[in-house]
Amino acid sequence: MSYYENLVVCYFSGTGNSLSAVNWIKENADKQNLKTQLCSIEKKETTDLSAINGKTLVGFCYPTHGFIAPWIVLKYLWKFPKIKNADAFFLNTRGGAILYKLSIPGLSGLAQWFSIFLFLLKGYGIKGSLPLDMAHSWISFFPPINKAGINRITKNCNRIVNKMCDKMFSGKIYLRYNIWLSLPIDIALTPIIFLYVFGGRFVLAKTLFASYGCNTCRLCEENCPVQAIVIKDNRPYWKITCESCMRCMNICPKKSIQSWVTRMALITYLLMVLGLALFKIDANLLFFIISCLFFPIYWIIFWSLRIKFVNIIFTFTSLTKLWGRYIAPGITLKNLKRKNL
Ligand SMILES: Cc1cc2nc3c(=O)[nH]c(=O)nc-3n(C[C@H](O)[C@H](O)[C@H](O)COP(=O)(O)O)c2cc1C
Ligand code: SF4
Ligand code: SF4
Repeated sequence: MSYYENLVVCYFSGTGNSLSAVNWIKENADKQNLKTQLCSIEKKETTDLSAINGKTLVGFCYPTHGFIAPWIVLKYLWKFPKIKNADAFFLNTRGGAILYKLSIPGLSGLAQWFSIFLFLLKGYGIKGSLPLDMAHSWISFFPPINKAGINRITKNCNRIVNKMCDKMFSGKIYLRYNIWLSLPIDIALTPIIFLYVFGGRFVLAKTLFASYGCNTCRLCEENCPVQAIVIKDNRPYWKITCESCMRCMNICPKKSIQSWVTRMALITYLLMVLGLALFKIDANLLFFIISCLFFPIYWIIFWSLRIKFVNIIFTFTSLTKLWGRYIAPGITLKNLKRKNL
């Protein structure tokens, strides 16, 4: 029998990792006859406060982006109301990796701490904190982990979530040891978090492009959680509002979405070296100017990709052309869009 009467889980998930955690939490809640309500942050669903009576546990599950919760989640958390008699927990999924047989954990930065402090200020009791190292989904930067590794990581995460639920649902506090272990690194990452939230994420939004294999099926446009893709001239165009959740890149049936992030890094490096040699200006200012230049550069690239030859060259020099894609095991597009949960 659970200590709580109601469970509300609000979640955002680009590629299904955080949604898997939500499903595991729901399975545990069902076993304990907890009345559960799921709120999709992507669909801007909110809790019906009037329907909640009695002891309530409110949970938030989301990925880590740039060492903090994604912008869409930050806005949701900020506006989330106080519920009478409610406690809260936070579960941020992170990008885990495997090097040979060694599991490499992700890094939370402030993805836990910011949420915890915000909800303490709102008057909630904090009942759980879990950074969960799922198989990473950052396909625009790194190749996916192999299937055996993904299954191993997923099984282990399921076990950890079950443990968390056992403890929290009985009214005890569950704070996973790794939130303390990485605390000094998490705090040291604060300047990078600011750079990401106020600049880097807009540049990242411009790293994706549709290669010549795209048949304008519009699946990416229809399934973007923040409507950041528009079809221009029969090809997807990424708006600055993209959350870099990686869903479009991983669901494209033609595997046509590529990233030019490695070339972007190389161009930045070359422009920095050239700029510093030619002009005697501050390196930070130069970096800022070069970052701003990416928006007109992206626009030029987008239009020049209409030329098949340019597109083919661009596609075959993209590292992402070489590797596979990732959606969490057992999760489908329907689940992500909550058509069938
Ligand atoms: C743009 C972007 C930024 C990321 N930043 C981090 C990070 O700072 N730390 C980390 O551990 N994982 C990071 N990741 C990995 C994701 O947090 C991880 O894959 C997560 O489980 C994805 O969850 P989802 O499938 O629910 O979207 C990042 C992924 C992306 C796409
Ligand atoms: S999902 Fe792929 S093929 Fe379909 S429109 Fe998007 S990029 Fe093109
Ligand atoms: S454009 Fe793609 S990566 Fe960006 S938010 Fe939409 S689905 Fe996610």
